Amino acid sequence: MSNYSIKSLEEYFQVYRKSVRDPETFWEEIAEEHFDWRRKWDNVLQWDFSKPQVKWFDGAQLNITENCLDRHLQIRGHKTAILFEPNDPQAEAEHITYRDLHERVCRMCNVLKENGVSRGDRVCIYLPMIPELAITVLACARIGAIHSVVFAGFSSNALATRINDCDCKIVITSDGSYRGAKILDLKSIVDSALEECPQVSHVLVAKRTGQKVQMKAGRDKWLEPLMEQAYADFPAEIMNAEDPLFILYTSGSTGKPKGMVHSCGGYMVYTAYTFKNIFQYREEDIFWCTADIGWITGHSYIVYGPLANGATTVMFEGIPTYPDSGRFWEIIQKHKITQFYTAPTAIRALAKESLDFVTKYDLTSLKVLGSVGEPINEEAWHWYNNNIGKGQSPVVDTWWQTETGGIMISPIPYVTPTTPTFATFPFIGIQPALMDDAGNEIYENQTQGKLCIKFPWPSMARSIWGDHERYKNTYFTAFDNCYFTGDGAFRDEVGYYRITGRVDDVIIVSGHNLGTAPIEDAINEHPAVAESAIVGYPHDVKGNALYGFITLKEFGETRDRDNLMKEINQKIAEQIGPIAKLEKILFVDGLPKTRSGKIMRRILRKIASNDTENLGDISTLLNPEVVQNIIDATS
Ligand code: WTA
Repeated sequence: MSNYSIKSLEEYFQVYRKSVRDPETFWEEIAEEHFDWRRKWDNVLQWDFSKPQVKWFDGAQLNITENCLDRHLQIRGHKTAILFEPNDPQAEAEHITYRDLHERVCRMCNVLKENGVSRGDRVCIYLPMIPELAITVLACARIGAIHSVVFAGFSSNALATRINDCDCKIVITSDGSYRGAKILDLKSIVDSALEECPQVSHVLVAKRTGQKVQMKAGRDKWLEPLMEQAYADFPAEIMNAEDPLFILYTSGSTGKPKGMVHSCGGYMVYTAYTFKNIFQYREEDIFWCTADIGWITGHSYIVYGPLANGATTVMFEGIPTYPDSGRFWEIIQKHKITQFYTAPTAIRALAKESLDFVTKYDLTSLKVLGSVGEPINEEAWHWYNNNIGKGQSPVVDTWWQTETGGIMISPIPYVTPTTPTFATFPFIGIQPALMDDAGNEIYENQTQGKLCIKFPWPSMARSIWGDHERYKNTYFTAFDNCYFTGDGAFRDEVGYYRITGRVDDVIIVSGHNLGTAPIEDAINEHPAVAESAIVGYPHDVKGNALYGFITLKEFGETRDRDNLMKEINQKIAEQIGPIAKLEKILFVDGLPKTRSGKIMRRILRKIASNDTENLGDISTLLNPEVVQNIIDATS
């Protein structure tokens, strides 16, 4: 039996039991046998969820890039580490070997050092899906600087908030980016963000599109000449296992995004171990995760997990529908992809297109299909399974979060029998629990509750940057001695979990987490708006779409409604990004409120979903009459 590579259901049960009976011995063996450490730990695990404080492998020293790069040079130096597939299907793919990647990361380290970056500094990375993105991430890790990647679809305001929250002094960006047929002006977004960030003294600009950009003297430099001149070696900084590796922002129930802090040692061990098992990765495989590195899925399963295993990982710059809806399947054929990992929203969008886009291509290289980011509905699951996997490649529905660092509940392909819409069993070492509203754990099966995790795992976030109290309040106060996920789940008679969705004010639209509060804040900035409430409602491609109920100030009443809608969505795009735009807007006379003045979103959710038969008791509302007015306005 190998604890590192699970091959049968019986083995899964045995290893799982071991991992929960004696977690310290279990993780110690994994850490010891499969990674390079400069110094071993003093303790495998110390934890106290009441503080909350969690330390894995404390006292150990390492650099994650020695595990992702250096240790592969001898045996895999000429193997492709990153396979870059450009936006333009006619352009040649780039095969970056482990040796090349090591060299480019070292050069980038020297460039960053020369531009003032040292251990512990925060570095903001705002880049499209080009190799420089992965290279900069790894270079930060090698220097011991903390990277904060901001998805290059966020607006300048959202970027500025994130730069300031963790006080970055340097930003790495590009002139522009290709997204299908569009070219985006990344540099000018950075320029306007930096008007709010006076502390940023350096901006390094990668050349991608060649478009004209403004370069601010003394602050902005082109990256390429610096890379060419830089020395091609750089000794890795020796980090403590518990030192922060990166910050990644995720939406919360309040306006301010939460900068989740991940650490070096535990994150490395857990992402590598989950990658190996959940994708049943073998040496000759070509792994493709279609996420953007701006999200946790890209951090863990494009960069760190695959590279720690010496894998070939694909980075795709483009979008699934350019030049046509066959692009994903064309790439799978072209690079003989073995594991394909994508989001339900992409599957649903492509399933709407003609099957000819799929059947044109040879997809027989595939062995595993993954899904992540939101619940996958039954129809999408079957389409994926039948048309992409041809019933031969297990679909792994992987549940996890930015906060968890790695996959938490998922089938192991060829090991766990799959059931559509179920993420199935907890992964090794993960101890989930369902809680009732009174805060008690529900032990029986065939039941539903709030999903918590009872015991620490190596890759859990250690804090929220600059606000440990918020970390405690968000995740560790709802239930005693447990991490609360914010999700609801159902557990069936064999113990399989199905994630039913968020139970807080976060709405997942096309796989992106959006907090309602920041969107409402953006809307309320419009001078004609008095008040707003955002709810999600089911959408057949996006999973959920946003419905805005808005009341206007008196002078707004006379304005043209279509123009107002456009202006409101424009505000949202400026403050957050186009992903947060409202699908539907209804101008109403009033919002249903409790006697204490809280907006009753439950009622608005029902109205938005056209489920007005079962509104529940509305008699306790402060203003029950508005409910009928709203219903009338929708019809
Ligand atoms: C949701 C993405 C159902 C869930 C890795 C979670 C899922 C949030 C699944 C985290 C899944 C993610 N089935 N729901 N397989 N995977 N979610 O932080 O609500 O971007 O809390 O991390 O996405 O989103 P995040």
